[in-house]
Formats: sequence, C-alpha cells, structure tokens
Amino acid sequence: MTDNTPAVREIGIIMNGASGRMGYRQHLVRSILAIRDEGGFELPDGTKVTVRPLLVGRSEAKLAEIAKRHGIEDYTTDLDAALADPKWEIYGDFLVTKARSSALRKAIAAGKTIYTEKPTAESLEESLEIAKLAKDAGVKAGVVHDKLYLPGLQKLKRLIDSGFFGRILSVRGEFGYWVFEGDWQPAQRPSWNYRSEDGGGIIVDMFPHWNYVLENLFGSVESVYAKTATHIPERWDENGEKYTATADDAAYGVFELEGGAIAQINSSWTTRVNRDELVEFHVDGTLGSAVVGLFGAKVQPRIATPKPVWNPDLEDTIDYDATWQDVPTNDVFLNGFRQQWQEFLTSYVTGTDYEYDLLAGARGVQLAEAGLESDRTGSKVSLPKLALD
Ligand SMILES: NC(=O)c1ccc[n+]([C@@H]2O[C@H](COP(=O)([O-])OP(=O)(O)OC[C@H]3O[C@@H](n4cnc5c(N)ncnc54)[C@H](O)[C@@H]3O)[C@@H](O)[C@H]2O)c1
Repeated sequence: MTDNTPAVREIGIIMNGASGRMGYRQHLVRSILAIRDEGGFELPDGTKVTVRPLLVGRSEAKLAEIAKRHGIEDYTTDLDAALADPKWEIYGDFLVTKARSSALRKAIAAGKTIYTEKPTAESLEESLEIAKLAKDAGVKAGVVHDKLYLPGLQKLKRLIDSGFFGRILSVRGEFGYWVFEGDWQPAQRPSWNYRSEDGGGIIVDMFPHWNYVLENLFGSVESVYAKTATHIPERWDENGEKYTATADDAAYGVFELEGGAIAQINSSWTTRVNRDELVEFHVDGTLGSAVVGLFGAKVQPRIATPKPVWNPDLEDTIDYDATWQDVPTNDVFLNGFRQQWQEFLTSYVTGTDYEYDLLAGARGVQLAEAGLESDRTGSKVSLPKLALD
C-alpha cells in the first residue's frame, strides 16, 4: 500500500520581540499562529509546512502569559541559547529599531535564516554591513514588505500590469492620522517613536515602506527632497510622564523615480483624517487615473474623464466622486504579513532566491537617511545604486 499522507515540514521560528505591538499582533497572532492553527500551508509539491514558535523577550512573566494564552510550549529570555539550538531554524526580529542590528549580527553569526521587521538598521552603513555579513555567511534573509500585500496595492499592481494607466506621470500619497499626545488620552503608538535617540521618527519609520512600494510598483527612487517637522514638541509616555519629542512627526517628501514618474508623499502623525483610508495613493497616467487605499481602489479611465473649466464665478456642477468607478475585490486576500511569511517560508523550504532581502532593506534605510539629509541641508539628495561587493 502506498502512503498518500503529505510530507510535513515543521519549522522552528525564534520570535524575538513577540510581546511588542508588531511582534504580537501581526507576526505572532495574525501570521505564525494563524498558520499553526490551520495545520500549516501546502507547497506546490504537496508538502505541508507547519510552524513552531519560540517566544523570546526580556520579561519571562510576559512571555509566559502570552504562551499560556495561545497554547505555545516554548519561550525563553535567553536569546543566545535559542540561537545555539539547531531546532530553531529561523530568527524573526520584531524588536524596537534600535535593538535590531546587534540581534541580527548574533543571528547571522549563529547561521540562522533571518526574517526581520524594517528598518533593518538605524544607518545605511550599518544596514549594508549587516546585508554583507549575511551574504558572506550564506545566510538567507527576508525583510518585511507588508504594504505591497495590502488589497488596495495589489489591485493597483494589477492595474499597472494591465496597462491601464498608459504612461504613469505622478503618484500622490497621503499617509497619516492623529496620534494623541498622551496627556488627556493615551497615545496609540509607543513613545519611542517620538524620540530620535531611541530610533524614532516618521521618516525612519515610513520611508523604508515608501521605498519598496515605489520601487516595486513605479520605479526605484533616484532622488528625494524632504521637509520634516516636529509639530508636537511635547508628549506624554506610557507612564503618563511628560517628555520632549525629539523626532520628526511629519515628513513632506518629493521623490523622482526611475522611468520619469514623480511621487509626492505626505507622512504625518499630526493630521486628522479626511480620506477613505489611513493611506491613499492617487496615480495619474496618460490613459487613466486611480486612487487606492489599504483595501479600496477606484479608477477613472481617459474615456470617462470629465472636462472641468476653471471659473470661480460659477458653482461647479460636476459631482467628481461620481465620476470614479470601484475596482471589485475579485480575490481573497490573506493578511499581508501572513502572506509574506508564507512566501518567505516557501522560498526557504524550496531553496529559491528571495527578492525582499537585506539589500532591499538597506535601500529602505538609504531613502530614510537621504530624506533626513535633505531636511538638514534643504537640498535634493540623489540615491546611488547600492550593491554588496
Ligand atoms: N511593518 C510595519 O507596518 C511596522 C509598523 C510599526 C512598526 N514597525 C517596526 O516594528 C518594530 C517594532 O515596533 P513596535 O511598534 O512593535 O514597537 P513596540 O515598542 O510595541 O515593541 C518592541 C519590542 O521590542 C522589545 N524591546 C524594546 N527595547 C528593547 C531592547 N533594548 N532590547 C531588546 N528588546 C527590546 C520590547 O519588549 C517589544 O517586545 C520597529 O522596528 C518598527 O519600525 C513596522
């Protein structure tokens, strides 16, 4: 008798920073535990890939509580011991940005495969050094590119691939919302985000995202001009203590892209939302335009473009909202973090190249650093092509 039971490949994953906002919600609960609880996912050859998380952090009590809540057997505060144990094949990093590079160095030295949040380091030099160390050690690595997996951006990718836009002229992005100061209402983001000495700042946080969104959809960024601001100079932390906000809480950027399109993106934790979603991109092309968000997407083709005439003396009778058409949701979208985890695990098990690697991560840090330099100098900053020699 032949055994038709599919082969099962269980992968042990170190989850460092599993108690944090991203580590817990997106990487542990929505990705790794979701995969585990569904009994894994299937590779094209029928192999089942399942996962076994090892929670790592600094507070044993916190880890024990999470482990109990989710039926997880393994947790430890000893990262070195976890890295020394071959049972754990992948090192996942969801730490605060400042703590990342030293942990990645350890994981590379231990020969672990790496999957990490962005930014991969606080400086371009360090992010390149880490990418080079990993390359020299033959360590495979993946860097979170979650925004590419948003349903709205996947619809946008399909529009681009279909030729809907013709030649793409420009992209206008609006990202942001009001993050409370923390005095009369608790802030909805950790306080380190507002202190540059702790790795905070909206450029460091968001420009790595804009880099991979722009390079994967429209063309790589060739130059940036950015103006930052710390609009709210004082905030209150998790303990209700007042602190000085030393990091930028808004960044206004203009990006020149390979191929000639121009992108403008506002990133702000100090704006009140008057859009359909927390992020929106408006793309104009010769044959059509689109507005996409996290989930939604609407289009206006050339043949259905109204013809406004500027006349301040007459009330405009065109209902502009009504001139756009919704793009239907024809696919079932997994949580983006989980989708990328599955793709990375598939690439790991099948031994294929993985595109969103530490060099891609370094390009994200390069854009953040260039944005900060532009703000400091008041000038446009070019981005040379990076390579690992
Ligand atoms: N992909 C995304 O959309 C996205 C969104 C937000 C944040 N991030 C990134 O994720 C990372 C974590 O952000 P977060 O919002 O979850 O932060 P967080 O403060 O909620 O969590 C950070 C984690 O790091 C741990 N930690 C803090 N200081 C440490 C230290 N000195 N040594 C070791 N561990 C330490 C904390 O215990 C916690 O587990 C950041 O690098 C951030 O840039 C990504």
